[in-house]
Order: sequence, then structure tokens, then C-alpha cells
Amino acid sequence: MTTDPLFQPFTLQNLTLKNRIVMAPMTRGKSPGGVPGADVAAYYRRRAEGGVGLIVTEGTSIPHPAAVFYPDVPRFYGEDALAGWKRVVEEVHAAGGVIFPQLWHVGVIRDPAHPLPAGVEPISPSGLRVPGEPSGVAMTQGDIDAVILAYGEAAASAKRLGFDGLEIHAAHGYLIDQFFWDGTNQRTDRYAGSIASRTTFAVEVLREVRRAVGAEYPVVLRFSQWKLQDYSAKLATTPQELEQLLAPLVAAGVDAFHCSSRRFWDAEFAGSTLNLAGWTKKLTGLPTVTVGSVTLNEEFMTTFRSDEGAAVTGLSDLVERLARGEFDLVALGRALIMNPDWPKQVQAGKIGELRPFHRDALATLA
Ligand code: PHB
Repeated sequence: MTTDPLFQPFTLQNLTLKNRIVMAPMTRGKSPGGVPGADVAAYYRRRAEGGVGLIVTEGTSIPHPAAVFYPDVPRFYGEDALAGWKRVVEEVHAAGGVIFPQLWHVGVIRDPAHPLPAGVEPISPSGLRVPGEPSGVAMTQGDIDAVILAYGEAAASAKRLGFDGLEIHAAHGYLIDQFFWDGTNQRTDRYAGSIASRTTFAVEVLREVRRAVGAEYPVVLRFSQWKLQDYSAKLATTPQELEQLLAPLVAAGVDAFHCSSRRFWDAEFAGSTLNLAGWTKKLTGLPTVTVGSVTLNEEFMTTFRSDEGAAVTGLSDLVERLARGEFDLVALGRALIMNPDWPKQVQAGKIGELRPFHRDALATLA
């Protein structure tokens, strides 16, 4: 089987990627005090040296007091953290890599072990973690305006630090997705109602980000049907609904969609084998990134929670889909944690030598 389709260049806005391989954003929690250190820079640099075409960093907290606040998740504000990120960019560039930060606000999804500082409440569209389960407070218009500005400030920092583009985390039941999902968005203002209205917050975030970085700077939006709160939740049950969700985001200036699914081979809607990235590309005409258990036989959350790892699988289905143009780019997570030089190994035909995934590998930043 040829893997050549993975090694074709790809142009995104003003950027040419050397291949179709993307490092998926993965929370590592190894930035003490929110500051990415030399070990974090070396971790990303190794993936650039291994031949990854585009690195998307772990989610990093936009400058808003309720955005993330886990002690060892990196901030994207403050001189100390931004200096750490600058080193990450320099190291990745020195290795010939391309890197985007993933800008993150968790909204109501929090770890009770890590409460927010006194006086700061978790915020979300309607103060709901899932339908019927109140948590934190519903955002006022003032909260919404502050968060939108924080995205813009983070985007400006990304560009100033030399990042090659940026990704907005709008997936997995975090803040932006809490607006998308009617299960957590029961507002009665312009941010709620129809699917299109539930994109209003994301649209305003995108406009602010565009204002901060200009028209040419690559801006990717990552979204998902599934939520950490509910794997079976769906924003769209038909292609028509998906189109209603995506069209306003396209109009607001997104350049590509990163379509998060837990298994890339899952058909998104009955009657077609297209996955979420396939449908998104077909409906919007924009480039898409697929993701989900590439070269592994088990999805990520299961492998995080159990002592069972995931075994290595083949690449033929993925490569055939890529060659057919179902999607344009392929993101890998756990496979790249285990195999920093996955692209070089695959290009050399050494798929059989890839290491399987085990959660023990998450203990260090190797
Ligand atoms: C996680 O830490 O498990 C995690 C973080 C961000 C995500 C998904 C999972 O988007």
C-alpha cells in the first residue's frame, strides 16, 4: 500500500504544509504554574523533527479568569507563559515545523479537584453542565463580551509570538460547544434558538479573532458532535443541520475545520460512508482535518481509563479516504505520543514498527 497521499504538500491560506500529518491538540498538564518550559518546547520540537506537517498545541487558556485554571495546563497570557510559548515556537521552527496554539475556554466543564480562585465562578451559556444539571452561572452579556475580547487578545498574542496560525477549541462540550449544543444553551437572547443562532457566539469570537490577526492568518475551528458530558450527543442529526451549523462559521472567516471524532472510520450520517470531516468538506468546500484513533484500534478515553492499551492497526482505509479527497489533513494524537517520528517511520514503510499506545506514556513528556 502506498502512503504517498499523506506526504503531499497542502496550502492553507499563506502557509504551505509539507505533508498532511497534524499533531492533534492533547492536554498534557506539564506546564507548572501555567508556564510551558524547556521540556514542553523539546516535546513539540521532537514531533517537528519527526516530520509532522502541522503541530496544534494542547489547549491553552485564553486571558479570562474562568477560562481553564488547572495548575499545570499552560496559560496563553502573562509574560512568563508567553515567553515559554515563544521558545516553543522557536524550537519548532528551528526543526522546520509549523505550529498553531489551540485557544481554550472550558466554560462549565471543570475538575472539582481544581476549583477556580475565590470569587470566580464557572460560566456557561445557561449555567448547565448537561440538560437538567445546573452548575456555575449563566453568562451575562458583559461576560460574553469579555470572553470574546479575550479570544481576540490571545489571537493577537499568537501572531506576535510567531505562531503560524491558530486553532479555536469549539469542541467536546467546552465553552463554545456549550453555545452550539441546545442541551446546554437554553438562553432566550440572540445567542440561542435555531442551530444558526447557537453559532452566534462562535461567529462573534471568529470576527474578533479576525480583527486581531487580519485576513491572511490561518484560523482553524475545531468542533465535534460528541461531548465529554455525553458521547452520544449530536449537534446535527442530518447533513442539512450540519450545514446550518457550519455556514455562519464559514461566513465569519474560518479557513478550515478540524472535525473531531473519536474514530475516523465512523460514518456520520446514514446512507454514506463519509465521516464528519468528509461531510464538513462536502458541505462547506473548506479544507478539513480528520482525527480519531488513527493507526490504533481503541478510542482515546477508553485507553485513558483502563489499563488496556490500544494496538497498532493499518493505514489503508485512512489513506484511501485521503486520496479520494474525503478530507485534506489527518491529525494523530496518541500515535504521536508513542512515536514522535511517526511520519518518518510511515514514509519509510515501517508501519509494523510503530509502538502501540499505553496510558503509562502520559506520565512523561518524552
Ligand atoms: C482531556 O484532558 O482529557 C481533554 C482535554 C481537552 C479535550 C478533550 C479531552 O478537548
